[in-house]
Amino acid sequence: MNKSLNPVSSRLVPIKPSASAWVSQAAKALKAQGHDVIDMGLGEPDFDTPEHIVQAAHAAAKAGQTRYPPTSGTVELKRAVVEKFKRENDLDYSSSQIIVSNGAKQVIFNALMASLEDDQEVLLCAPYFGQYKDMVLILGGKPVELPCSADDKFLVTASALDKAIKDKTRWIILNAPSNPTGALYSLNELKAIGNVLERHSHVMVMADEIYEHIVFDDQKFLSFAAANPQLKDRTLLVNGVSKAYAMTGWRIGYGAGNKELIEAMVKVQSQISSGACSIAQAAAAAALNGPQDSVERFRLAFERRRDLVVSRIQTIDGLTLDPPGGAFYAFVGCEAFVGAATRDGKIIEDDTQFTQYLLEDAKVAAVAGSAYGLSPFFRLSTATSDDILNQAIDRIAESLAKLTTQKR
Ligand SMILES: Cc1ncc(COP(=O)(O)O)c(C=O)c1O
Repeated sequence: MNKSLNPVSSRLVPIKPSASAWVSQAAKALKAQGHDVIDMGLGEPDFDTPEHIVQAAHAAAKAGQTRYPPTSGTVELKRAVVEKFKRENDLDYSSSQIIVSNGAKQVIFNALMASLEDDQEVLLCAPYFGQYKDMVLILGGKPVELPCSADDKFLVTASALDKAIKDKTRWIILNAPSNPTGALYSLNELKAIGNVLERHSHVMVMADEIYEHIVFDDQKFLSFAAANPQLKDRTLLVNGVSKAYAMTGWRIGYGAGNKELIEAMVKVQSQISSGACSIAQAAAAAALNGPQDSVERFRLAFERRRDLVVSRIQTIDGLTLDPPGGAFYAFVGCEAFVGAATRDGKIIEDDTQFTQYLLEDAKVAAVAGSAYGLSPFFRLSTATSDDILNQAIDRIAESLAKLTTQKR
């Protein structure tokens, strides 16, 4: 290639390689060198997709559902999504208010692409799912981070939101249960946020509810749109089958909201990828329409692992973790180790260096809080067996005991 040729668009310049990508690459490199690395970075259930869902995909392929599907989603899956919202969230949508995409991620991207003007602001509650920020940047928007402290359960407060809203604010993205903290809002908190947004009629709400089914301690999940019916037409619900049904590889997500916005999102999708895979859509319809016992089985397993991880992390001097209310992550505070010295005299300056140390010394891959916009923390995925969780935490404890800290 001609040396003076830069093949990369300036749109990509602000997009830095993510810390999670760095961790997984570094973990793979160490594994390739023969090291026994435990990867706690992955954000996907470790279960197999339930058999009846796989069977539905077989049946669809055999029945010849192998042609281009409608761009917005198959009639059957959109109907299943409409029924899911009615049954589980007491929300009424028509099929024309639904889009099916290649995973929840594409729903989010479609929505931002369909709606965002240059330099318009998108409010992100930090810590947030890192991809929100990158998508906003790629599309020429401006991500604005609202730090949400551990004292506020990592949730945005109504007053912080009120202060952050400007004329240029286009969206606020809410994600509960949250990746990376597992935090979720109470009905009153959702209503308080809704009251603020009611006064700012130019702002749209994206509520990413992909972890809806993974909630603990007998809490009941509440959809933002159900808590704030007055904002339903300004709210885009983002959801999908990846997490609830162990279907990350099938790539089916869906969105529900304002009909005009959905139509614009379908227009975007028609230019990029067309309709999502027809066979995966048949599988997703079977997931939503079929027996839900596997969802509860997975939830119980995640709750048990949450308990295991919390009880063990809380015994490690210098780490902080309140029990996450949902999802399958632990967002662990590591402030006591910022400024700590390793045995060979290196100082750990921040949570990125902290996770580098864990990888090098404990051979445990975890993602730094900076990847989610809040430091000093690190995220462990708990979507793995008890045995591996115990091993990983043993190794972390051993490696941290080798550090010299001022604060402990
Ligand atoms: C908060 C959040 N939203 C969306 C996604 C993407 O989901 P999907 O696999 O359906 O694209 C993830 C996946 O990790 C996530 O954590």
